[in-house]
Amino acid sequence: MHSTETQAQGVPKWWHTATGYQIYPRSFCDSNSDGIGDIPGIISKLDHLRDLGIGFIWLSPVYASPMADNGYDISDYMAIAPEYGTHADFDRLVAEAKARGIGIVMDLVVNHSSAVHHWFQAARAATDDPVHDYYVWRDPAPDGGPPSQQRACFGGSAWHFVPEIGKYYLGFFSAEQPDLNWQNPHLRREIYDMMNWWLDKGIAGFRMDVISLIGKDVDAGIFEEGPFLHEYLQEMHRETLAGRDVVTVGESWAVSPETALLYCGRDRQELDMVFQFNHIVEGWDPVHGKWKPRPFDLVAFKRVLNDWQTALADDGWNSLFLSNHDLPRQVSRYGDDGVYRVQSAKMLATVIHMMKGTPFVYQGEEIGMTNVRFTHIDQFRDIETLGHYADAIADGVAPDDFIAGANTNGRDNARTPMQWSADTQAGFTTGTPWIEVNPNHSDINVAADRSDPDGLFDYYQQLIALRKTHAVIVHGQYQPYAKDDPSVVAFTRVLEQEKLVVVANFTGAQLQFHVPDGLTCKGQSLLSNYGPRDALSGIVTLEPFEAFVIAS
Ligand code: GLC
Ligand code: CA
Repeated sequence: MHSTETQAQGVPKWWHTATGYQIYPRSFCDSNSDGIGDIPGIISKLDHLRDLGIGFIWLSPVYASPMADNGYDISDYMAIAPEYGTHADFDRLVAEAKARGIGIVMDLVVNHSSAVHHWFQAARAATDDPVHDYYVWRDPAPDGGPPSQQRACFGGSAWHFVPEIGKYYLGFFSAEQPDLNWQNPHLRREIYDMMNWWLDKGIAGFRMDVISLIGKDVDAGIFEEGPFLHEYLQEMHRETLAGRDVVTVGESWAVSPETALLYCGRDRQELDMVFQFNHIVEGWDPVHGKWKPRPFDLVAFKRVLNDWQTALADDGWNSLFLSNHDLPRQVSRYGDDGVYRVQSAKMLATVIHMMKGTPFVYQGEEIGMTNVRFTHIDQFRDIETLGHYADAIADGVAPDDFIAGANTNGRDNARTPMQWSADTQAGFTTGTPWIEVNPNHSDINVAADRSDPDGLFDYYQQLIALRKTHAVIVHGQYQPYAKDDPSVVAFTRVLEQEKLVVVANFTGAQLQFHVPDGLTCKGQSLLSNYGPRDALSGIVTLEPFEAFVIAS
């Protein structure tokens, strides 16, 4: 125990000190030349992750699936997709990871199943089958059309008609992803049993896909954070998680600092953390969303992150990330993927890893992988991009305009294969990859970066190692400075006698920074992406994307 903050946040947990690493299996490493990443491929790369120092892997879905949404459409929750491997492979992954001090956190996708799940096949065949009610059915509107105007996340209507039984089902994401009816207690029981079955295999927890949707009230038009959400999460906790030393992170596109503690407050018995997206959505167009990103506004971005740091200062716990499989590559989005690629990627990592919470690294982030530049719609693979393309073209949008938006913010940016080497297909596969590799793998790859002492991997190693030795990084109180500065992020972390000063230039320009009073310090350089800095006062010149941490 280090401080009152720690006490307020309860017993220190292994996942406070650990760093997470997300693997998107399809794009990580292909062991058998079919062009698709797989579990044996992941096992072959575990040493890379051990060297990085991570504590757990968030494994995107590896369950049986027709892969309409690359596994976020599950057809059998207790089977491994044959293209990814077998149960024996999975058990070996858990054991081999454990031998390297790494836990496996599974993706739990239970807002919806796949349309080819046997439940749904039975449900759509007969209204009197008991599993019919595992899904959300409504009668057509009086004109025979869908019951409401609700749009699906991946384009088109959210209601899908089954002529055989004359009813519509809800597929909030797509027709291939029918929503499960959480109001059915038998369905909930099946899900809890399934979760326990995985937990009993020794996994380290769950990342819960779009979990804030499970409490929806469809007829009231409430999807996010609906009236039943917390009742179900508490029941889930009682039935599966209670008494187990695992970590849970719930994905929510709706959660705000005002509602966060309802999920992860210490008295709630629900989740450990949420993945929130307020800082991501801040950069989207209010009307056109992600396809029309707005210019980056650092003041607004800092305000969002500060609000989260403040809201969870003494209770709950933050997850810290800029990237995942649904988001563009962070160095392209927030840094500079040209001349300052390495410096800006280090700067972003410094800001994220020095905040209070558990940091997550997305595969390839540790070597500064960038967005891809596709020119034709056939190069894209993502169901969301293709669905919205169809909608956009129908609305008269020029294909090139849509593709420009997809290159900036589309999900395929994160899904091009992991760049292991300068070899053909980036060392990801010896076959033909399911999605093109980024041509820049000749320069940006694991082999090249790891052999460079000034590379990103080395820097991430340091960030990840520091939080294991410096309790102030894990538990220190967060205090932001220079809140209205449009170019610089600055904050301190304080734990008893220890204090860290973190400063980051978020721009590609050299600039003069007037050091605010609370940041003036003299100490030791803990980390920096230019030369070491051990003191701060008056006016200092910051180099482009310079970032440093001083321990004072
Ligand atoms: C989550 C996943 C995303 C998926 C969606 C539907 O947002 O992260 O990849 O498409 O849920 O399951
Ligand atoms: Ca394969």
